[in-house]
Amino acid sequence: MRRLAEHAGLSFDRAVLLPPEAYTSAEMLDAERTHLFAHEWLCAGRTADLVNAGDYLTVDVPAGQLGAEHDSVIIVRDEQGELGAFANVCAHRCATLLLGCGTAARITCPYHAWVYRLDGQLVAAPYMHRTVDADGRPFNTSDHHLQRLLLEVWEGFVYVNADPAALPLGPRLEGLSAVVGRYRMAGYVPVACGVDEWNTNWKCLAENFMDAYHVFKVHRSTFATDGDSTANTTVYPGTDAYAYHLAVDDPASSHGIAHADNVVLDGTWRRTTALAAVFPSHVMQIQADWLWYLALSPVGTDRVRIRWDVSVAPEQLAAQPDPRGYVAEVLGLLERVNAEDRPVVEGVHRGLRNGNAQRGPFSYLERNVYDFDRYVAQRVS
Ligand code: FES
Ligand SMILES: [Fe+2]
Repeated sequence: MRRLAEHAGLSFDRAVLLPPEAYTSAEMLDAERTHLFAHEWLCAGRTADLVNAGDYLTVDVPAGQLGAEHDSVIIVRDEQGELGAFANVCAHRCATLLLGCGTAARITCPYHAWVYRLDGQLVAAPYMHRTVDADGRPFNTSDHHLQRLLLEVWEGFVYVNADPAALPLGPRLEGLSAVVGRYRMAGYVPVACGVDEWNTNWKCLAENFMDAYHVFKVHRSTFATDGDSTANTTVYPGTDAYAYHLAVDDPASSHGIAHADNVVLDGTWRRTTALAAVFPSHVMQIQADWLWYLALSPVGTDRVRIRWDVSVAPEQLAAQPDPRGYVAEVLGLLERVNAEDRPVVEGVHRGLRNGNAQRGPFSYLERNVYDFDRYVAQRVS
């Protein structure tokens, strides 16, 4: 912790990677659960996943309490059109209420059939009429409701926060909104999602997503086929809430280019890709044609769970004579990109556990990695 506190004070020109133990020690993971995940805004999905009243999804978010790895959370749209986040735990005897995603008029517990409204209020409880509390008052459904979590929407992403005293997210992301707001990504249409696990520390994957340096080498057959991608990349200083960099694609590129029907982007923005991270665990690649995001959570010091989603700009999708074929093509590209990153990122974690691990200086293209590491070091120490 002392070394992390020192690290948090390093300027960019003196910075190196976090101490290797930050990626390998169980104590660090505990501290991250307590100081990061239990207090920060965590991406749970997109508003486009929950369009109608009763649409719900369940999501595992990293937990800081009672030694659990993850807490299950329900995100649901109620009859008033409001999104709510609730602990996915029955108020009777802790049964898990919902699995996966779907649409429901009410939430009915699978164990003893307590029934909750979409705003979390208990409205029915079979055979509870004989039950009285210690003061002799009869059982009353209005005394019981699901535990609500803070929820906020930013640019079409739904975030939850387990800390009832958390400050709102929107103001912390104003500077990022000014950059990525122009894509209007809230309107992008979800086309695919999934969950993966990789054998690496969650921070190694977060750093990799923010690393503008490795692209010319690792992704020379996918993202960097246009030649020297680094010449078209600009990395901006981050804050204690986010980091981002921009890459301008070649006009002849097969992706990353606005469709002719896109009327919201102008100039080079029509072919600019933004790579952004909302700290601690949400990373995204935003393009004029599609959006790819990952929500990361640690399963252990050496394993990360990746919830991912791909969404396509509406005019891009509408213009496809073969939308399924188009989506398959985008997913194929991202599969190849993942296959390029995975061995490297898993190898980094093996390297960090090597007793002779060394850390060299960052390049100017790793500024986002520095911002992320500094954020982690500050919060945890
Ligand atoms: S645990 Fe849900 S009704 Fe009993
Ligand atoms: Fe990569």
